[in-house]
Amino acid sequence: MQTDDIRLSHVPGFAVLGQDDGKRNVQGWHSDFPYHWGVPARGLVPTPSGKTVLGVQRNVCVSPFTREGGATAFKLGSHALDRPPPKEWGDATAHAKPGYRAEHGLPYNGPEADVVDAPGGSIILYDSRTWHRAGVNRTPKKRAAMLQAMTPMYIFPKNDTSRTFKKLLDSPVYDNLNDREKHEIQNLMVHQFIGPGGEYAITVDRDLTETVKTATTSGY
Ligand SMILES: [Fe+2]
Repeated sequence: MQTDDIRLSHVPGFAVLGQDDGKRNVQGWHSDFPYHWGVPARGLVPTPSGKTVLGVQRNVCVSPFTREGGATAFKLGSHALDRPPPKEWGDATAHAKPGYRAEHGLPYNGPEADVVDAPGGSIILYDSRTWHRAGVNRTPKKRAAMLQAMTPMYIFPKNDTSRTFKKLLDSPVYDNLNDREKHEIQNLMVHQFIGPGGEYAITVDRDLTETVKTATTSGY
């Protein structure tokens, strides 16, 4: 991303994949935040997006990632194509629709879908544009990963990380960190902007949110 000043774009979250039942909707092909190509989200990065890398995804495999156990399928090298995955592969927007799997079957799983096996504890690091989708877990054992979207400091965050960071400050875990770790976690989780007279932490304003909701629902 050509900068050392990086942020966590959301609080690290767990993605747990249970055994497939042959019916449930599955995740379709997509690119991760902030690109979100193939995802029904607001604020997609326009294509072509250019050479600047706007995100790197860092997924920690909590359990082993195997083909039968639901390891992620990637189209390796697709980040360089600088465009969304083909719709005919079955993207995440299509597969999020109720009943889509029953009508259209599973997303593309041909020779261009590269399944990366990885032992538990591995970290899968990839350019967020890389086309991928969750695998299908055909085993009774759950597959778990911790997902982290890493972005340069100039990207608007995906979710609020400030409340979790404040909780960390009050936890005994924080006291056991050394100064470098404290500094690094703060830098990763506190998004700031420059205001009058200095830098300010960006966080949620609940009162203002209620005001905005009222204005929106009343048609303004
Ligand atoms: Fe993803």
